[in-house]
Parts: sequence; structure tokens; C-alpha cells
Amino acid sequence: MHQWFSARVILLWLQAVAVVAATSNSNQEIRAGLYGLERNHLEGRKTDHLQGKKCKAYPGDSDWPSSQQWQDFNETLEGALIKTVPEASRCYGNATTGDSPECQSLSETWGNSSLRIEDPSSIRSVLFQGMTCMPPAFAPNFFSINATGKACALGAYPEYVVNVTSVSQIQHAINFAREHDIRLVIKNTGHDFGAKSVGKGALSIWTHHLKEKSFNWYESKEYSGPSVKLGAGVQVHEAYALAKRHEVTLVGGEGKTVGHVGGYIQGGGHSPLTSIWGMAADHVLSIDLVTATGAFTTADPTTNADLFWAIRGGGGSTFGVVTSMVIKAFPQIKATTMRYSMSTGGNFTQDKFWEAQKAYVDNFEYYADLGYYSYYRIRHVNGQIFHDMTSWVAPNTSETVFRASIAPVVERWRSIGVPFEPIIREYDNFPDAWADGFPQEPWTWNMRQASRFFPRSVLSNNTTRAASFNAIREVFDAGANLIMFNMRNPPGSATIDNAVNPAWRDILMFAIMFVTWSPSDTPKYVTQLSRNLTYAWNPKWKALTPGSGTYMSESDYIEPDWQESFHGDKYPRLYEIKQKWDPEGVFYAQNAVGSEDWEMGETLLGHLPSQNSRLCRK
Ligand SMILES: Cc1cc2nc3c(=O)[nH]c(=O)nc-3n(C[C@H](O)[C@H](O)[C@H](O)COP(=O)(O)OP(=O)(O)OC[C@H]3O[C@@H](n4cnc5c(N)ncnc54)[C@H](O)[C@@H]3O)c2cc1C
Ligand SMILES: *[C@@H]1O[C@H](CO)[C@@H](O)[C@H](O)[C@H]1NC(C)=O
Ligand SMILES: *[C@@H]1O[C@H](CO)[C@@H](O)[C@H](O)[C@H]1NC(C)=O
Ligand SMILES: *[C@@H]1O[C@H](CO)[C@@H](O)[C@H](O)[C@H]1NC(C)=O
Ligand SMILES: *[C@@H]1O[C@H](CO)[C@@H](O)[C@H](O)[C@H]1NC(C)=O
Ligand SMILES: *[C@@H]1O[C@H](CO)[C@@H](O)[C@H](O)[C@H]1NC(C)=O
Ligand SMILES: *[C@@H]1O[C@H](CO)[C@@H](O)[C@H](O)[C@H]1NC(C)=O
Ligand SMILES: *[C@@H]1O[C@H](CO)[C@@H](O)[C@H](O)[C@H]1NC(C)=O
Ligand SMILES: *[C@@H]1O[C@H](CO)[C@@H](O)[C@H](O)[C@H]1NC(C)=O
Ligand SMILES: *[C@@H]1O[C@H](CO)[C@@H](O)[C@H](O)[C@H]1NC(C)=O
Ligand SMILES: *[C@@H]1O[C@H](CO)[C@@H](O)[C@H](O)[C@H]1NC(C)=O
Repeated sequence: MHQWFSARVILLWLQAVAVVAATSNSNQEIRAGLYGLERNHLEGRKTDHLQGKKCKAYPGDSDWPSSQQWQDFNETLEGALIKTVPEASRCYGNATTGDSPECQSLSETWGNSSLRIEDPSSIRSVLFQGMTCMPPAFAPNFFSINATGKACALGAYPEYVVNVTSVSQIQHAINFAREHDIRLVIKNTGHDFGAKSVGKGALSIWTHHLKEKSFNWYESKEYSGPSVKLGAGVQVHEAYALAKRHEVTLVGGEGKTVGHVGGYIQGGGHSPLTSIWGMAADHVLSIDLVTATGAFTTADPTTNADLFWAIRGGGGSTFGVVTSMVIKAFPQIKATTMRYSMSTGGNFTQDKFWEAQKAYVDNFEYYADLGYYSYYRIRHVNGQIFHDMTSWVAPNTSETVFRASIAPVVERWRSIGVPFEPIIREYDNFPDAWADGFPQEPWTWNMRQASRFFPRSVLSNNTTRAASFNAIREVFDAGANLIMFNMRNPPGSATIDNAVNPAWRDILMFAIMFVTWSPSDTPKYVTQLSRNLTYAWNPKWKALTPGSGTYMSESDYIEPDWQESFHGDKYPRLYEIKQKWDPEGVFYAQNAVGSEDWEMGETLLGHLPSQNSRLCRK
């Protein structure tokens, strides 16, 4: 179960196609990128095409703070400043080698988010960091970095991390970064698919230890009732444990170790409860944050209402550092979940598999309108299709009612001969249903994805639904794997006035395609896979869903027209609020609001902006 990390996904390696430009040219860029990774090369260097532009300060630049200034800074922080040592550096150097016990255990647990989260700078999506310090077994040949290669460099891991436990440390860190014009990043858990919590030469604010949490009665003009206050470091499993203790329900993610009020709520993330209660961001009552000037302030419907609007869905690392949020709590509800997995093979052919899938997708509107949510995967494993329903969740629904609702699809599957042995169970509270239904997922470091929403208008029409289904199968057959969600937003959600992507409000399906590779793959192969996602496969889905969008936190790193895809018609207002609150660009992240005013000097594989390069104003 849940073997994203260890399962070697087999993809057919066919001949190169014209659409992918993996020429000797891009090999040169790869090499340039590689040697650029070594610190000595980078010091004091600006790449040619960025000459004369206003870049952030980097180590070796004349405007980089002196060691005395760093030391003084550490004193104002009461010693909370950490010089980054990449976790995998223990695998390199004189004392240890790739087969030392410390290194072995790191390799074995590299995909375990619980452990990586405890490190000040480790992240999931290391590709964009440059993969400059990997356990040797995972060192990518395609960047010409491997065990026998050049060992361990800092890459895009930040120079320094502030292990914050107080608001004043956050204020000091923002002020220091702003005054010295240093790139500032915020790491909470490091889950982000876009590696948004690293940056070359950065100072990082690490919010993981801001674990304040309490259950309170909230009174305001808009809402009077139970609520929770959650510090920036509180994770989904901790938030649900609090909810369970107080016999309430919180709208939160399925991912166990994700940060509840970090990138998840700020990015407008989805929940197993979205079909009945909408987005988690819809239930935020008040936000405390430190802004780009270093001011500690509150955003709610009456104070800084523009920030309050923008932070609820406009994206992390954009408007300030959130220190805590107050969030509405719902009454306790029962829930029923169903899990199963199946694999093609023998008389269960791939055609039969897709026929069965179609029977389910044909009923997406029905299930979403019952308030259900499902999250499942369809992957290539050893030449077969492996499909696992992580969980199909029926909130506020008894097992009896749930079984009756799925009976027509189950009957159809039986007639097709689907090997279907589900585990179905009713729980009297959501946190328990979630705990069983959503075991901790591994951090898949060798993965890149793209995604798209499929709106109701497309899926309720027999013709366009069939076309969508075919396009999903087509992308799978071409070599991608799939992560699928069936959900809706409940009636009335479209009028909620926050920065959640308006395209979320009328979806019935959210589909993610992903590719994986192995460390021994060639640059040409990985480049083709990556370019296929963006330039060949996702456009097929986009063509069928004009005017829709996707979820920023689970999207293509280089999503074309990302402003439109992530924010729709809300983008101009978000950009205006960004200019008002952060005109100098203290906060930056890949494809965050306002990031189009900046560029990075180098690319990985010839087409992916490298976080391991200078960030400069355009
Ligand atoms: C295994 C897994 C499961 C997931 N499950 C779900 C799910 O169920 N639903 C869903 O919608 N998404 C899910 N996601 C996506 C997840 O919500 C995003 O990756 C999100 O960005 C993670 O936020 P974080 O704060 O935990 O991580 P980080 O990577 O540390 O931060 C993400 C972004 O938010 C910024 N940020 C973090 N904290 C703050 C803060 N206090 N103030 C300002 N900016 C901040 C960071 O700078 C960065 O830009 C999942 C991802 C993974 C890998
Ligand atoms: C900051 O100070 C603490 C306490 O003196 C020390 O342990 C730590 O190494 C210092 N950090 C840096 C980057 O020097
Ligand atoms: C490795 O050992 C050599 C020789 O003893 C020494 O000069 C060098 O500094 C050491 N390097 C590290 C990273 O410890
Ligand atoms: C990950 O590590 C944590 C902490 O050591 C452990 O409790 C958990 O079981 C591990 N998870 C997996 C999937 O191995
Ligand atoms: C490691 O990288 C070097 C340099 O690119 C290459 O020659 C060698 O074959 C690689 N080794 C492995 C095991 O992939
Ligand atoms: C960060 O701070 C917390 C709280 O003080 C402490 O428990 C933890 O050990 C620190 N982590 C590191 C890596 O310094
Ligand atoms: C949950 O179900 C009860 C009774 O079936 C119903 O009254 C209530 O409105 C439902 N709640 C939600 C949020 O759908
Ligand atoms: C495959 O064979 C098994 C055993 O004979 C049978 O139960 C199942 O229905 C068949 N499935 C298909 C898809 O024909
Ligand atoms: C379904 O979509 C097709 C293709 O866009 C369109 O021609 C047709 O009119 C639609 N059918 C209905 C019932 O709306
Ligand atoms: C759509 O397909 C269903 C099932 O095949 C059929 O019952 C329905 O009449 C079709 N709707 C339209 C508008 O063609
Ligand atoms: C890219 O897509 C094309 C067309 O589907 C396919 O032929 C090729 O094998 C793909 N390349 C990779 C590396 O997946």
C-alpha cells in the first residue's frame, strides 16, 4: 500500500518526438546548471543576461552581510539562527560514506515526511532545488550528480534558517532580509510541489515549531460559535486531534503531515469535506501575520480586509508570514469511508478496467451532489494498471445509505468482472474516519505533475464527459500516471468573497497527471517526460475545459498562464494587494502573485527555472 516512493513505475521509453527539444544544446545548459551548483563558481558571479539587473544579494556579493552582522543578527534572535547543513551531507565527506549507517538510514527513510519535516531545510520537491545533496542512491545521473560525482552542495537550500518560536523573531528576520535585500523564504513543512520553501542564498523563516493551538468560542458580527486558533506550525493531524478532543469537525486536508494554516489554507486547498462544506479557506475567521514592513497585525473582515480576502486562497509566501489563524469549527458528524485496490492482469484487461472507470466517472455528478469526496490513483506498475482508492468518503452518511448509493456502480462492476473487495466502514466522527482512510503518504521526490479542474458543465454533458474521459485515458496511455478527485463545492460557495480560485466552485473532478523517473535516467529522457507534461499532455485537458483552472499547490511548476489558471478573474485584485503590501518584493515564490516581475538566472534541464540561481527583478 501507498508505495509511491518505492514503486518503480515502469514507463515505455519510446523514440524521441519532435515536440521535445532534448538537443545537445540543452545538455550544455544542464552542464552549466551543474557546475553552477558548486558554491565557488557562484560566488560573485552574475549570469550574462541578468547583468545590470537588480538582483537579491548573494554570498560573495559586496552587499551580502558580514559574518559580524550575521552574528549580531543571531543575538537579536536569541540564538535561533541555524547555518544550513543539508540533511544528506552526512553521506559525504571524510568521516562518512554512502554506506555508513547514518546514510543508510537516511536513504531508507528519505520519503518519510515526518522525519524530513524535522529538518530545518529539507523539502519534498528536490528537483527544483537542484538535487545537489541527495542520499547517493538517489543522486540523479541526469544532473551528472551521483555517488562518484561531486558530492554535496547547498544548491537552493537556504543559507540560514531562523527556527522561530516567537513573533518578534519573525519580525527581526523579515527586517533583516528586507534591509539587506536577501531572498526570504518561509518553510513550514516543505510539502509544496513547487519547492516554494527553498531559494538559493535565502534566509528562511521556519514556522514548524509555532505549535500553539486552542479551542474557543468566537464572537463577531459574522459568526458566533466554536472555533480553533492554530499556530502556523500546526499540522493536519494535530488539528484533527484537537477537533476530536472537543467533539467538533474541522475542514482540513487529507494529507496527514501537511501544515494546516500554511500553504494549505493560503493556497485554497481542498478537503474530504469540501463537497459539504467547501474549502478550508472559506472558514477562516481571523488571521495574524507579520507583513513585509515587519509589522505584526491582524486581518479579519473589519481590519485589513483586503489582506484578509487575499490570504484566504491567494497563496503562501506572498503577503506576509502568517503566525496563526482562527477557524470556524463545525459540529461533529459521522462519516463512512470505502477503500479498495485492483490491478489489471489475467482476464481483467485494461479495456475492462477503463470500462469500469467510466461507469464511476459517469456518476461523478451524482456522488458529488450527495456530498461525497473521493481520492484515487491510477498508475503504471509492471506493465499493468494499478488502481487504488485511497478513500471514498461519504460525510454525514451512514454505511447503509452509502452502500445503497453505490449499488448501481458496484453491480455494473460485478457484471464487468472487476476484482473488487472494498473495505467499507462507518465512523461516528470525522477525525477517526480520516485517520483510517488516509494513511500517511510518502514524499515522492522523483515526481513532477500537472493538473486540471473539470467543471460540472463539461462532466454533465454526455459528449464532453466522454471526451474528457478519453483525454484522461490518452494521457495515461502516453505514459503519465493519474491522481483523481471527485468533489464539488456546495451550493452558494461561488458567492463567498475570498481569493479561492473561482474555478474550484463548479468542479466535479480534479485530475492530476504525474511522471516519475529513476536516478539512472538520462537527461534527455527526464527532459522529455517533463516537457510532455506541460507542452503535450496537459494542453489536451485544457482544451476540453476552457475558462477553468487548477489548484496552485498541486499544479505544474511551469503552468502556462498561471495567473489565469490559479486565480481567474481575481488575479488583478490580488496583484494590486500584493503591490500595496509588498511593493519591494520581500516575499517571493515560484508562480506566486507578483512573481512575474522577477526571474531566475538558470534553468534545470533547459526549461525549469532553477531555484538554485539568482533571483532578479525583470
Ligand atoms: C503528501 C501530500 C498530501 C497533500 N494533501 C493535500 C490535501 O489533502 N489537500 C490539499 O489541498 N493539498 C494537499 N497537499 C498540498 C499541500 O497543501 C501544499 O503542498 C501546501 O503548499 C503545503 O503547505 P505547507 O505549509 O505544509 O508546506 P510548505 O511547503 O512549507 O509551504 C508551502 C507554501 O506556503 C508558504 N507558507 C508556509 N507557511 C506559511 C506561513 N505561515 N505564512 C506565509 N506563507 C507560508 C511557503 O513559503 C510555501 O510557499 C498535499 C501535499 C502532499 C505532498
Ligand atoms: C546562533 O547562536 C546559537 C547560540 O549561541 C549558536 O548555537 C548557533 O550556532 C548560532 N548560529 C550561527 C549561524 O552562528
Ligand atoms: C578530509 O580530510 C583531509 C585530509 O585529512 C582534510 O584536509 C580535509 O579538510 C577533510 N575534509 C573534510 C570535509 O572534512
Ligand atoms: C515515519 O517516521 C515516523 C517517525 O519516526 C514514524 O512514526 C512513521 O511510522 C514513519 N512512517 C512510515 C510510513 O514509515
Ligand atoms: C556518475 O557520474 C559520472 C559523471 O557524470 C558518470 O561518469 C558515472 O557513470 C556515474 N555513475 C553512475 C553509477 O551512474
Ligand atoms: C528548533 O526550536 C525548537 C523549539 O525551541 C527545538 O525544540 C528544536 O530542537 C529546534 N530545532 C533545531 C534544528 O534547532
Ligand atoms: C447531515 O445530515 C442531517 C440529517 O441527515 C441533516 O439534517 C444535516 O443538514 C446534514 N448536514 C450537512 C452539513 O449536510
Ligand atoms: C475472471 O475469471 C474469474 C474466475 O473465473 C471470474 O470470477 C471473473 O469474473 C473473471 N473476470 C473477468 C473480467 O472476466
Ligand atoms: C453537449 O456538448 C456538445 C459539445 O460541446 C454540444 O454540442 C451539445 O449541445 C451539448 N449537449 C447538451 C445537452 O448541452
Ligand atoms: C446521456 O446518457 C445517458 C446514459 O446513456 C442517457 O440516459 C441520457 O439520455 C443522455 N443524455 C443526453 C442529453 O443525451
Ligand atoms: C512524450 O510523449 C510522446 C507522445 O505521446 C511519446 O511518444 C514519448 O514517448 C513521450 N516521452 C516520454 C519521455 O515519455
